[in-house]
Amino acid sequence: ERTPTGCPVSQRAAEFDPFEDGYQQDPPEYVRWAREQEPIFYSPKLGYWVITRYDDIKAVFRDNLTFSPSNALEKITPTGEEANAVLASYGFALNRTLVNEDEPAHMPRRRALMDPFTPEALKHHEPLVRELARSYVDRFIDDGRADLVDQMLWEIPLTVALHFLGVPEEDMDTLRKYSIAHTVNTWGRPKPEEQVAVAHAVGNFWQYAGKVLDKMRQDPDAPGWMQYGIRKQMQHPEVVTDSYLHSMMMAGIVAAHETTANATANAVKLLLQHPQVWQELCDDPGLIPNAVEECLRHNGSVAAWRRLVTKDTQVGGVDLPAGSRLLIVTSSANHDEGHFADADLFDIRRDNASDHLTFGYGSHQCMGKNLARMEMQIFLEEFTRRLPHMRLSEQRFSYVPNTSFRGPEHLWVEWDPRANPERADA
Ligand code: HEM
Repeated sequence: ERTPTGCPVSQRAAEFDPFEDGYQQDPPEYVRWAREQEPIFYSPKLGYWVITRYDDIKAVFRDNLTFSPSNALEKITPTGEEANAVLASYGFALNRTLVNEDEPAHMPRRRALMDPFTPEALKHHEPLVRELARSYVDRFIDDGRADLVDQMLWEIPLTVALHFLGVPEEDMDTLRKYSIAHTVNTWGRPKPEEQVAVAHAVGNFWQYAGKVLDKMRQDPDAPGWMQYGIRKQMQHPEVVTDSYLHSMMMAGIVAAHETTANATANAVKLLLQHPQVWQELCDDPGLIPNAVEECLRHNGSVAAWRRLVTKDTQVGGVDLPAGSRLLIVTSSANHDEGHFADADLFDIRRDNASDHLTFGYGSHQCMGKNLARMEMQIFLEEFTRRLPHMRLSEQRFSYVPNTSFRGPEHLWVEWDPRANPERADA
């Protein structure tokens, strides 16, 4: 097999398959060979060039004209006619939001919509996160075991996301199903028979987003980032378009929710797999902010992102013709020895942990990163204080097969409720 530029494809590049369990379980480990020997390779199975080193990925993020983000939310697996017809029947038209918008449209829109993300604005959400974290832990603290994903980590970030966006709290289970369908639709490889069910869920999600938006337009002074966008549209209709609002209404729920839920589950799993580190964190919660960064570096919730090459160029000495599609494996960059000393070591005191690329980099860098950090810090504060004696239960972790959004579907932990610190305090 040959690359589109006519070079032979190596055996390992030919075998690369990000929908396989090996990638799901540990993406940076799965591409270690590439990071060390063939840092940019063409994957015939995917039809993408795969980039694995820190400096190369940062160079791609830095130049969003040569490396357009327009394919960031494209279906990585083209669907069949039947699924496409289902999507069309719902009027599905997810288009540019921010993350997949090109210049010159992107920066003015990003600037117009930034204020609700300032540290002062985010402070308003902190009490809600704290209260939710406490009340969810209350529900299971006497049980001695819990699936943290199902019993807490999925729902709280969803509640916070809806609150931040300004969406009335709706049927959480339905939204969870919709979100996962969106992930599979965008970054997964559903079998033909699954594609139709996924298309129905995504179509329903799209229509739901439209209805919520219509309702919001009747009360544009209500709090919420989407209402903020609706008000900005009145002043700058060419910057904040209808298509943007409808697409962001849907994509925003997923961007704010699944990423954070998965990031926290990955972090707790990683910490409990290192009981000594967990103990240190319980003894000194002041270490939590940097521990959060190190967890995002070592085991982040976005494993890879995408770009489209707009003109013939080179990355790391490899020719990439216009039209090339790139899978930039940020989780691999985060384990690059060239940037992080002893990169596989989990070190919550690492001084450059926050150089990780889990939130992307440059003009599209995650706008919600400080909201996500705040949530993760509060969850860890509550866990270290109230459940310092928890440990991982025996289990095999499973992941929704896809290139990008990554977190265990379940996270079972256990502890002796008789040893709960708050019983001793009482
Ligand atoms: C963009 C990851 C949480 C809103 C992004 C990008 C990534 C990402 C990889 C693309 C960056 C790039 O192209 O350079 C994450 C992770 C999160 C998280 C790992 C949690 C741990 C959130 C939250 C919100 C949010 C909570 C909203 C409340 C956004 C928005 C963009 C974005 C609006 C688009 C920014 C732009 O293109 O200008 N995020 N995200 N994210 N994220 Fe997040």
